[in-house]
Amino acid sequence: MIVATTGADLREIVKSFAGKKVLVPTMGALHEGHLELIRMARQAAGPHGAVMVSIFVNPIQFDRPADLAAYPRPLEADFPACEGEGVDLVFAPEIASMYHADRSITVTESLLSKGLCGGSRPGHFDGVCTVVLKLFLLSACDAAVFGAKDFQQLAIVRRMVRDLDVPVEIIECPTVRESDGLAMSSRNTRLTAAQRADAPRIRRALQMAAMMGTPAEILKIARAEIGASPLTRIDYLSLVDAETLQPLTEISRPAILATAVFYGKVRLIDHVRISC
Ligand code: PAJ
Repeated sequence: MIVATTGADLREIVKSFAGKKVLVPTMGALHEGHLELIRMARQAAGPHGAVMVSIFVNPIQFDRPADLAAYPRPLEADFPACEGEGVDLVFAPEIASMYHADRSITVTESLLSKGLCGGSRPGHFDGVCTVVLKLFLLSACDAAVFGAKDFQQLAIVRRMVRDLDVPVEIIECPTVRESDGLAMSSRNTRLTAAQRADAPRIRRALQMAAMMGTPAEILKIARAEIGASPLTRIDYLSLVDAETLQPLTEISRPAILATAVFYGKVRLIDHVRISC
């Protein structure tokens, strides 16, 4: 497995790769969810293609400095995990090699990023779009794998690729969960034992609410079930159109019930799809 630490190195190395190049962009602290993305990347690349994983805690997508500082960075575990999955190349750059101190260009999405996580994390998706486009350009990937867990991110990346004619195929990997239903996340390790034991209620609440009839009932049940725990604080709870991500007042098209919930300082997200 090759490790590249600067964009210039990455550019050089990928020139020697034959076959389909598939990128898995991550911020590291790899868990089984990330590994599933890597396996999908291998399937897409085929035995003669190249699987590339980027590990970069992207500072410009964090709105809270404390969250950036607390983000886990266990590179010593991430490298062997990639090696174990047969990854061909890991790109793990320093911040200074990714961003010029006086950079002045940012990719901005102006519709899908307004609500949900974008509503409570201003500038977050501009940071995501900017780094993802840079990673696509540096790696010259043919395809990239993203998790359905971050469905707003996936929708926005798809929109960026469409609107900017980026020649990269976007592959979706379903959400990988713990056995109790909690969506896997690098942030789960920051939960206390009591918070971790409580957190599966998020998924249960969304599933229960999704069986209700009207949007008002759906939102009421979900809010009550998540709020029933003294450990939770709801950041947002929204019912949106599955494609446009705009709020819905009736379910006449496929919808998504999505939430972000704080346990202390740790913010967890999850969603369910609701068909009409
Ligand atoms: P990160 O949170 O590390 O996630 C990297 C990829 O793994 C994303 O596509 C995310 O959706 C996927 N993922 C995380 N947990 C998952 C789970 N439980 N099941 C399925 N997929 C999961 O998302 C980011 O990093 C960053 O925003 C990034 C795209 C790398 C840009 O900085």
